[in-house]
Amino acid sequence: MRVLGIETSCDETSAAVVEDGRILGLGIVSQADVHRAYGGVVPELASRQHLAAIAPVVSEALEGAGMRAADLDLVAVTRGPGLVGALLVGLSFAKALAWRQRLPLVGVNHLLGHVWANALSGWTPAFPVLALLVSGGHTDLLRLDGPAPAQTRILGRTRDDAAGEAFDKVARMLGLGYPGGPAIEHLAREGDPEAVRLPVVARLRDSLDMSFSGLKTAAYDLVHSARPPAPADLAAVFQARVVAELVSRVRAAVERSGVRTVLVAGGVAANGALRTALAEAARRDGFTLHVPPPALCTDNGAMVAQAGLAAFAAGERADGSLEPLPSIEAFGWKEAPVAQGGRAGSRRRSGPHGA
Ligand SMILES: Nc1ncnc2c1ncn2[C@@H]1O[C@H](COP(=O)(O)OP(=O)(O)OP(=O)(O)O)[C@@H](O)[C@H]1O
Ligand SMILES: [Mg+2]
Repeated sequence: MRVLGIETSCDETSAAVVEDGRILGLGIVSQADVHRAYGGVVPELASRQHLAAIAPVVSEALEGAGMRAADLDLVAVTRGPGLVGALLVGLSFAKALAWRQRLPLVGVNHLLGHVWANALSGWTPAFPVLALLVSGGHTDLLRLDGPAPAQTRILGRTRDDAAGEAFDKVARMLGLGYPGGPAIEHLAREGDPEAVRLPVVARLRDSLDMSFSGLKTAAYDLVHSARPPAPADLAAVFQARVVAELVSRVRAAVERSGVRTVLVAGGVAANGALRTALAEAARRDGFTLHVPPPALCTDNGAMVAQAGLAAFAAGERADGSLEPLPSIEAFGWKEAPVAQGGRAGSRRRSGPHGA
């Protein structure tokens, strides 16, 4: 099937044509330059940028694939989580296109989009799998028992900031600009990951939950202390600690669930230190690891097309009444009890993240 995927949940307008796990055409317009001055995504500005970019981006995807809209078989569009005004732009465009071309339409959970990016880069779908979703707005450990969106359960989650959000905020403290993750990674190469100490993340017994806000606050205190560390050292220490927290939870999830395939997903998965540390853990613990190439880790239409195809094959259908779901809670994912008698703890956040 030739699937058009449309993504407008945050600050990238993107569309792609995907067929048989191959990207035939892709357009991405990033708004990073627009939001940089504010240190984070400004929702109203994001909506306006999506409006300007959506038609050219879809045209670019179709032209890259050498197709017209009439050649498509399915339209997939992100319906959330994300910024409501931004989501509405993609949804409206997708609905109009599907109606005009008499094509089936399917709404996609953006987070599953990130996970399904792996099917565009070497993962042959087989279940159950674990997924570490680590992005700008979310940090979750998921278990997928099948391709249908409803077969996803949450094993653990950040109790406060998403990892990407923490990267962005520490980068802002260091005057590195937005988005912060790539800037921290770059600076960290010149730093000593053991130059200073950051506090140990408190662990809840039997929980796979994570936490990043304590590290962020400790970094803030160091930056504003009488003798602040060199920025490169702080970047290296902070990155190492975030990576250690993520890797430790993945290893625990593999051990407790017995599931031995892990998919990594989301913008922070582009981080080289995280990729290296996870590969090392996979080798040591004997699990199979899939991580998309960095360009497919951040938001793109291809991952939406791939996740949309899986949802469509599982029987999902949408029509002109499809509405945005800005918060992850609206998707109704259940929390899975952690094996060995553990319990996942109570939850707090999700949903759009801004400046
Ligand atoms: N090399 C990197 N190292 C660390 N973090 C990175 C890197 N590249 C991107 N990021 C982070 O990834 C995040 C963006 O990822 P993504 O596009 O998946 O998030 P989002 O779409 O804004 O959030 P969500 O997917 O949760 O709705 C930003 O926080 C950015 O700093
Ligand atoms: Mg994303």
